[in-house]
Amino acid sequence: MSAKPNSKFKSWKGKDKATEDSSGFDDLNPTITYRHLSAHNLGVRDPLRVIALCDSDAFYAACEMIRLGIPDKPLVVLQWQSLIAVNYPARTFGITRMMNIDKAKELCPELVVVHVATYADGEQEPAYRDNPDTRTHKISLDIYRRESVKMLQLYKQGLPENAEVEKASIDEAFMDLTRPVRQILLDRYPHLARVPDDAPMGLDTPIPPPPQVSWNELGTLVPINPAQESDADSDDIPSTWHDVALSIGAELMEKVRQEIKAKMGYTTSAGIARNKFLAKLCASYRKPMGQSILRNAAIPNYMKPMAFQKIRFLGGKLGNALAAEYDVSTVGDLLSITLDEMQNKFGEESIWVYEVLRGIDYSEVKEKQTLNKSMLAAKNLPEPVTKLSEGYQWIRTLAAELALRLNDARETTPNLWPKTLVLSARDVRAHESRRSKQAPWPFVREVNVDVVAAAAEKLWKDLIDPHASLKIINISLGFTGIEGIESGLKSIDTFFKAPTPKRPLEDDTTNDDTAAKPSSKNISKDLSSFVCSRCGQRSSLPQSAIQTIAERQSALALMQMEHEDFHLALDLSKVPDPARPLREAGRVAVTKPAKKKRRKESPPRGIAKFFGKS
Ligand code: CTP
Ligand code: CA
Ligand code: CA
Repeated sequence: MSAKPNSKFKSWKGKDKATEDSSGFDDLNPTITYRHLSAHNLGVRDPLRVIALCDSDAFYAACEMIRLGIPDKPLVVLQWQSLIAVNYPARTFGITRMMNIDKAKELCPELVVVHVATYADGEQEPAYRDNPDTRTHKISLDIYRRESVKMLQLYKQGLPENAEVEKASIDEAFMDLTRPVRQILLDRYPHLARVPDDAPMGLDTPIPPPPQVSWNELGTLVPINPAQESDADSDDIPSTWHDVALSIGAELMEKVRQEIKAKMGYTTSAGIARNKFLAKLCASYRKPMGQSILRNAAIPNYMKPMAFQKIRFLGGKLGNALAAEYDVSTVGDLLSITLDEMQNKFGEESIWVYEVLRGIDYSEVKEKQTLNKSMLAAKNLPEPVTKLSEGYQWIRTLAAELALRLNDARETTPNLWPKTLVLSARDVRAHESRRSKQAPWPFVREVNVDVVAAAAEKLWKDLIDPHASLKIINISLGFTGIEGIESGLKSIDTFFKAPTPKRPLEDDTTNDDTAAKPSSKNISKDLSSFVCSRCGQRSSLPQSAIQTIAERQSALALMQMEHEDFHLALDLSKVPDPARPLREAGRVAVTKPAKKKRRKESPPRGIAKFFGKS
């Protein structure tokens, strides 16, 4: 059920109008009715929405501290000559990211300096070295990626199932706690779950006043009136139901952050607020090891003094244009500009600026397909490659990284299969400076450096003219079209499994023709073609591709999947997006005053696009 957008809900906004009037912070204390509490899908317009952003403290540095078992020592992570992470003990010496390493050591002689792991030629795994050689080594961030994956899993496990978790960057994630918070709220205050018999407006009757929240132990409150000393305001100002919701969200976050600390050793900081933009913004209010809570009532004074060009995507051209147009610098300065004026000057889309300045953000927390469609290992070469043979060392290094990345990803999604391997090289002198070659990637379960390097070397030979003079300064090797093939695999299995197999399929002995006879009549006996059961089309393998049973299997499976993709794409192009009407209904559910023009379609997928990552 979606929100009922009608006159009954006028009371959703406007309580603070008297105090905030033209600045437009007019949705800070919405009236909550029984209808809100009984609705299952108010989505991004839920007046009791609770979003958190959790970010790991000095992440790369923390990974190294934990790996080395030295929790309290000042430590920095180095990548060649640059500091890329500085732990909090080191920060107390005044060391900052991007500082020169010699300067850092001067400030703190006992500083632990860890150079990120590197791949060297011919090694399958990256290793830690004190003085890696830029000329022959390649940086590896794999350990941080792995820790990041584990942490994300712990967030999901540590929160109730109906919370939504979205990875936002290598060390942070957004969490939509609205649903679990609602459930806990109704458990704790069961009288809210039922409309009283004497409720004058039935479901649309406002719920009774909330209890006063005790914020002790729940985190740091962003003050409502920063000018006043201390957080006295938290006791004086009556809590709202949204405050109650935030406090429950803070309990959940406290618990999950403690679990991360206990199970993995990492300390994190969180921001908790009514949307993604504000959660991200306030997550760094108290760092490290803190969680900051931004109540709706604290939004105006938190936003107003902020330099608007510090807001992501207001830093660039648009920010400059706004600053120049109005000759101002803070969010507060821009609040007197009406939406109409802004849209006249900067276009219809600038509604997102108007909204974000008021701490409004309707972007969803949505678990992205954690599957990266592609993986790339690239290297800027310290010395240009000038002939074919000089490329092999780099190709092996890149192959090692790519194999490791795929195997890491397969730990969480075992049936990952890249469809294509792509090699590309950039030659400084050529007109068309980047050239690439690609080849279908066979369905091989065991991917190691040798397998990838062998395929990549073939591509390298195809790409490079042995007689041409070269000056290649960058080589990259990547897998593309990566898919989790749960369904695909099933179909491969059913196609290829012999009725009573004598050997498992993985044992792809080349001359054993009993192991893998197709059981499906769709597949030709010689494994050279298949007939699609949906369209009846027969697709055949080119003769050259057919060498061994294993090769036939993978080539056919690839062809079959591409064919299925084709059907899928066709199906999708016919079926309208089922979520769409709902989303659009959601968007008009709470209307602003009619004179404000709202976007017809979802905006540049709102602020998500602008504030998603750090
Ligand atoms: N990082 C990087 N280069 C950057 C920014 C970040 O390599 N320009 C890496 C850092 O090494 C860092 C990780 O990405 O450890 C996460 O970045 P961020 O959260 O911005 O900083 P932290 O080091 O985690 O520090 P903080 O406690 O302030 O979040
Ligand atoms: Ca961080
Ligand atoms: Ca971060």
